[in-house]
Amino acid sequence: MIRAVRGTRDLLPPETALWNYVETMVREVFRVYNFQEIRTPIFEETQLFARSVGEETDIVSKEMYTWEDRGRTASDKGQSLTLRPENTAGVVRAYIEHKLWDRGLNKLYYIGPQFRRERPQKGRYRQFYQIGAEVIGPPTAGSESPARDAELLELLATLLDRLGIADWCLQLNSVGCPNDRAAYNEALRKALEPVVSNMCVDCQRRAVTNPLRVFDCKVPEDQPIIDKLPRISHYLDEPCRNHFDEVQQILKAVGVPFTINDRLVRGLDYYTRTAFEFTHGALGAQNAILGGGRYDGLSESLGGPKAPGIGFAIGEDRLVLALQQTAESVQCKPDVYIAPLGAGMNAEAAKLARELRRQEVVVELGDETFRLKKSLETASKLGARFALIVGENEVKSGAFALKNLSTGDQVAVPRDGLTDEIRSRVQKL
Ligand code: HAM
Repeated sequence: MIRAVRGTRDLLPPETALWNYVETMVREVFRVYNFQEIRTPIFEETQLFARSVGEETDIVSKEMYTWEDRGRTASDKGQSLTLRPENTAGVVRAYIEHKLWDRGLNKLYYIGPQFRRERPQKGRYRQFYQIGAEVIGPPTAGSESPARDAELLELLATLLDRLGIADWCLQLNSVGCPNDRAAYNEALRKALEPVVSNMCVDCQRRAVTNPLRVFDCKVPEDQPIIDKLPRISHYLDEPCRNHFDEVQQILKAVGVPFTINDRLVRGLDYYTRTAFEFTHGALGAQNAILGGGRYDGLSESLGGPKAPGIGFAIGEDRLVLALQQTAESVQCKPDVYIAPLGAGMNAEAAKLARELRRQEVVVELGDETFRLKKSLETASKLGARFALIVGENEVKSGAFALKNLSTGDQVAVPRDGLTDEIRSRVQKL
């Protein structure tokens, strides 16, 4: 038997109803905050991720699905392509490619699959889904303002509250600007020098190439050393400190609670200034339900104009997991099961089903070869609210038997006005 590839999974009903519920709700929230949807390709040139996410990150160095495309001729070497491990790089590429700055501030959102070759476990998959948003534009459009950071964080708090996700915790930090980072990296290098030989091989390499990435280390023995390293908060220059203070002031003013975590540096290289994660207790080890931050130099590093930006991505798989702990099932059940009874009744039933569905009534259609007992059993199994019986007698008399499957009550409803009658009964429940 061929099974789904390790780390990928089928999303089956009724869980897919929960996914649709989440996506409908987030689209509604994005609309109110005046965000518009963008859809970028699922694969891009490998260079895009290497240059934005960073060569030294776990994502680029270990987790990408990369392949050499076929060239146009046998001797022609193809491009190196990669399944997107995240969507910010693709959005910024599209921003540059389509000169989206002509529209001023761009507020874009996306929903779609991402791919990382991580070790699969609960809440961690090799194909997973993100719901993300990016606010990007020229500084003259206000893209650098701490007001954008606070607005995005307030949106997230609203979104999680609306979905009924209680107990989230916003962890906030500033990772400063490239100047701060240079000083901080130097301090890290110095602090690591005497201890790095006791650390894992990855950290020994990171200590030389990109010391900030030492914070991505998951090796338990390295953690006491990492805990004693200097903190970025001591290396922020005045503009970065002011920016961070103002983000916090607005969050307090609008009543969004947060915790400062100056160990939070995030696992991607493009971040500057504000960095954040929302965690959720019910998720176990993979407790980051979403993450994001500012990336003020990213557009320039990809060959674009100055375009400060900030964004986030929610792990939709984790969001749904968190909802499953709290929410009731949002499974869709039919309003009416139509039971055609006897030869020639399928056509009559199809006509009725068509009328009802056009009135937004959810209909499941049986088959004329089923006996009444089987039809009613099927209807109950599906959780239908009513069964409508369509037999020769009903067609002749012009009145159809409508059975309420939870009370067992049955009424005869005339053919004229049948759809209106059913719709009003369905709405009353
Ligand atoms: P990230 O922290 O790498 O950030 O991913 C964001 C979220 O995606 C995580 O918090 C987690 O919920 C989910 N996620 C990541 N990897 C997996 C996985 N293997 N399985 C399930 N869920 C996963 C980014 O991707 C940035 N692009 C976010 C961003 C947007 N920053 C600025 N704009």
